[in-house]
Amino acid sequence: MNAWTEALNGAFQPDLHSHRPVIIRPSSAEGQAVLQDLLQRDPRIVVHDHLHSQLRELVKALNPSVKWEAAALDEAARAHLAGVPAEEYGVWVHYPWSHRLVHLLDEAEFALVRTDRNRNKITKDEQAILSGKRVGVIGLSVGQSVSLALAMERSFGELRLADFDTLDLSNLNRIRSGVQSLGLNKTVNVAREIAEIDPFLQVTVYPEGITEGNLEDFFTRGGKLDLLVEECDSVAVKILARQKAKELRVPVVMDTSDRGLIDVERFDLEPERPILHGLVAHLDLAQAAKARTNEEKLPFVIPVIGLDTMSVRMKASMLEIESTVGTWPQLASSVVLGGALVADLHRRMALGQFTSSGRWFIDPEELLQDRGGGPNAKGQPPLPGAEPMSDELMTALANKLETVPSDPLSQEQFDRLVSAAIMAPSAGNLQPWRFMLREGCLLVFHDAERGDSPLDGGRLIPAMDMGACLENIRLEASTMGLALRIDAYPTGDHRLVARVQLSGRTSADPLAANLALRCTNRKKGDARALPKEATTLIAEAVAQVPDCSLHMLDHRDALADMAEVIGGAERLRVLHPLGHHDLFRKELRWTSRSEERPLDGLEIGTLELKSTEEVGFRVAADRAAMDLLAEWDAGRGFMKMTREQFQSASGLMLIATRRPDASGLLEAGRAMQRAWLAASAQGIAVHPCAAPILLSHHVRFAGGKGMSEPFQRQLLQLRDRMREIFALETDEPVFMMRLSYAPSPTARSLRRPTSAVIARTKSPA
Ligand SMILES: Cc1cc2nc3c(=O)[nH]c(=O)nc-3n(C[C@H](O)[C@H](O)[C@H](O)COP(=O)(O)O)c2cc1C
Repeated sequence: MNAWTEALNGAFQPDLHSHRPVIIRPSSAEGQAVLQDLLQRDPRIVVHDHLHSQLRELVKALNPSVKWEAAALDEAARAHLAGVPAEEYGVWVHYPWSHRLVHLLDEAEFALVRTDRNRNKITKDEQAILSGKRVGVIGLSVGQSVSLALAMERSFGELRLADFDTLDLSNLNRIRSGVQSLGLNKTVNVAREIAEIDPFLQVTVYPEGITEGNLEDFFTRGGKLDLLVEECDSVAVKILARQKAKELRVPVVMDTSDRGLIDVERFDLEPERPILHGLVAHLDLAQAAKARTNEEKLPFVIPVIGLDTMSVRMKASMLEIESTVGTWPQLASSVVLGGALVADLHRRMALGQFTSSGRWFIDPEELLQDRGGGPNAKGQPPLPGAEPMSDELMTALANKLETVPSDPLSQEQFDRLVSAAIMAPSAGNLQPWRFMLREGCLLVFHDAERGDSPLDGGRLIPAMDMGACLENIRLEASTMGLALRIDAYPTGDHRLVARVQLSGRTSADPLAANLALRCTNRKKGDARALPKEATTLIAEAVAQVPDCSLHMLDHRDALADMAEVIGGAERLRVLHPLGHHDLFRKELRWTSRSEERPLDGLEIGTLELKSTEEVGFRVAADRAAMDLLAEWDAGRGFMKMTREQFQSASGLMLIATRRPDASGLLEAGRAMQRAWLAASAQGIAVHPCAAPILLSHHVRFAGGKGMSEPFQRQLLQLRDRMREIFALETDEPVFMMRLSYAPSPTARSLRRPTSAVIARTKSPA
């Protein structure tokens, strides 16, 4: 050890505990003895004596109408001492933690001068009322700001502070304290700061924080609280403290330091009022105390923070927690504002000028809007409107067909085929199909209004959806012993997808038995290995479709690599305004299972989300928050879900085609459906992962319209990586599905009734 570090170790250590100033009255012999002893005992004592300027202010405050000349004021200040030696006047306050001895006016005169500039915003009578109030503050980040504002306004007689935490450097972005206070318990720190503003204010600290053991004491010892300011992070304490407040009829105020959100609960005036405005009334509150994981805490946290009303930056940050940021961001401006708002509310509540309960936003961004429009005014992306597939449009398209003779389908056969057709999968469950029986043929139409996506210029999705739909028709016909002739795009217009005619007899295709069984299952699996015969059976099902190939991955490292590719593409999809619009505005249905279930789109329950993930989805629904993540090149939290899904997967299958033209892709859609059915037949859960192929297809076949250059580049990189992992050569990939051994899905997507998809127009038989 060298000399200076030795000296460092021998230096005085800070006092981490004392927080009460010692008030010594020098007018008594006893007080003088204490002062003498102190000055002799502690050589580090520093004396601050500015009594004379306080006396001058006192004289002015007592005679507000007098215009004082400096000399006259000095004289009046000296005269105020009435012969008492100045050093024996007022009080000497000893601050043990800083070894300071400060000469001040005694309480009545001190308070008069210190609150003089409050007049008439606070009258003397009001100030007297406030000086009898007891306020409890739990949580000392916003709570520090509140406590200091209350202390400066002198709007309490006693303040009780509870927080078990110590002051860290990262707190100093919003807690106004000196670096010498790092390591102090936050209650001790605030008590000291208040004492340094006003040593006469009574502050009681609970440095162990609020516990079931000290709750009663905190609320009632020394007299019942007049107000609880609740600013802590713990859901359990939030609930516990409110239950006690309600029992004792103590009002509660909370500032959430985002968008100036402030909550007032007047349990004093409304004893029956449910806690937290009833927002957690549906929950078992006893569980709040037991909640340990984020999953368990979430149902309680969400109503408190108000997911839908959070600021955009808060939402975006929420998706970054444990990814690029450790925890919630909180700014000094918000915390200081919170302190001001709560101090204002407390004063008006204490003086009977504010009696309401409720939730308010005092949001500076909303109140002080940039008149120039600001950089944030992005708005929704323009969306191309497609013409819906109406009966009239179907008829007009069908009129362009040339008649070809064939055995006519009966109405009954047609109905049965349509019932099977609509069980096909479709992207976002948008079911973009419509059907018509015309001249004994089944005509299949694609409804672009439902099924087109601006990020699918290569028309991959319609091909997959409609290919699967046609395969269902073919399979169902086989169970009726009927062979079909299917003409793809018979008029060259992609809206009329196929004409289906009878072409003889055939035997039932065994895959047809699985039409009703097949579904999307996004549940996690048990990572069991895929048996060889499973892959063989799926490959055989695909091999029946010309030009298509199956590629299977089951190695764990390869699956983990593909999770990065798929997760990466999913991330890009939600960050892109058009992809975001497709998912959140067009496909997702937020209805919960207990409510009336939607007949199309992706019901949130089918996504098998953990509650934390569902919250992430709700947050991600905010386009502006996604714009921010895109701007920050963030949002990698979205990939976590995919990673977890792939850790439990058994395999990943990819369908590819040698013929990526319109009818080749339609065939590939058939192959996709056959592979899916073959997997379902073996009890394998299937979860499509379309994003990487779909988005890169758009870049390759539609010039990446609507996508920025870097966005396209990232997609092509992901595509290259995918080709590399699958060792694909020339075939064009069209679809991927994650395979697992998993429990049955929680919910299955529903279908619109056949009446909604069959043309109502009576056509010539
Ligand atoms: C072309 C296409 C793309 C799809 N892409 C995805 C996808 O990226 N992620 C996903 O979870 N499901 C995807 N799905 C599954 C559909 O959402 C699902 O088929 C639809 O909701 C109907 O539900 P079902 O398969 O249970 O009948 C896709 C389906 C198709 C046909």
